[in-house]
Amino acid sequence: MTDAPLILGFETSCDETGVAVVRGLEVLSSVLAAQVDEHARFGGVVPEVAARAHVEAIRSLTHRALRDAGVHSMDLDAVAATRGPGLAGALMVGFSYGKALAWALDVPFLGVDHMEGHLFAPRFENPEYQPPAVVLLASGGHSQIVHLKAWGDYEVLGSTIDDAAGEAFDKLARFLGLGFPGGPAIDRESTDGDAAAIDFPRALPDRPFDLSFSGLKTAVTTFVREHHSAGDLPPMADLAAAIQEAIVDVLVTKTMNAVSAVGAPAVAGGGGVLANRRLRERLTEACAAAGVALHLPSPRFCTDNGAMIAAAAGFRLSRGEVSTPDAEIDSSLRLGA
Ligand code: KG4
Ligand code: ZN
Repeated sequence: MTDAPLILGFETSCDETGVAVVRGLEVLSSVLAAQVDEHARFGGVVPEVAARAHVEAIRSLTHRALRDAGVHSMDLDAVAATRGPGLAGALMVGFSYGKALAWALDVPFLGVDHMEGHLFAPRFENPEYQPPAVVLLASGGHSQIVHLKAWGDYEVLGSTIDDAAGEAFDKLARFLGLGFPGGPAIDRESTDGDAAAIDFPRALPDRPFDLSFSGLKTAVTTFVREHHSAGDLPPMADLAAAIQEAIVDVLVTKTMNAVSAVGAPAVAGGGGVLANRRLRERLTEACAAAGVALHLPSPRFCTDNGAMIAAAAGFRLSRGEVSTPDAEIDSSLRLGA
């Protein structure tokens, strides 16, 4: 794919500054400046803090991405940045920087849908990943089950009616004092836990593709308060494993419901929650049992990164879709809408 365009991608929709250089399916460099420490003391992402940190990181990170890739900015064929959804102030940093750089280099600029980036991310390591497929997108801000009919043609079959899966992990980890971000903390804590020790509820059993996590939050907080007062609270590892199992179980069940409903031959996944070890294990088992292929990115491409933005931009560019100079961010952009 050496004749594929060389694209610089920026991702600044939330709390990670991601910059990458991609050519076709080849990631030449992908660098990140995580802001975990800045937000951890607040127990969550603070929008103003995030925007400021992007401003501070983006210039040197861009130099690093180009250097790691061994390319000069003059070699770039296009520049892309996340257009939405996400935090407005944070999005604006990468978008404005990318747009200005493209203008200065006299190359096309592409504003990219963050969720389309997650849809493309499995391609780097699974080149056989092609539509049609059912894609589970689960992150801190979104949980969706998407029917990928063709590149560029996405039908959202189901989504969360309240909290996103990653948000549920984050809020419950905070409640349990396990730290931020909550997903990796619960994933780690559950290693030696017994998931069957507590049976937390699975929401919306009658709705095949939709998700809900606010009931789980209530069930866990009630359970912990009651058992704490009674002095018989189960070990933290069991609590973490049972919470993780409840979230994972619903994600896997609804994804496989979608596979049966649309008759898809493959499943893919994207978003930070797909880094979860138990989710990956359960999806692997479910797809093997259903006889469908499974395409998961490695954890570094599940969480937010600039490479996925450049990959989605490559597809858009191949269709001649470039952003105009007056393009703006759209913090509430919706996939398939
Ligand atoms: O895709 P992402 O990096 O950013 C957003 O677009 O939101 O996802 C971040 C989310 C956080 O809620 C984080 O707790 C969750 O992904 N996450 C995980 C794991 N790693 C990250 N959730 C469960 N298990 C993990 N190992
Ligand atoms: Zn994301």
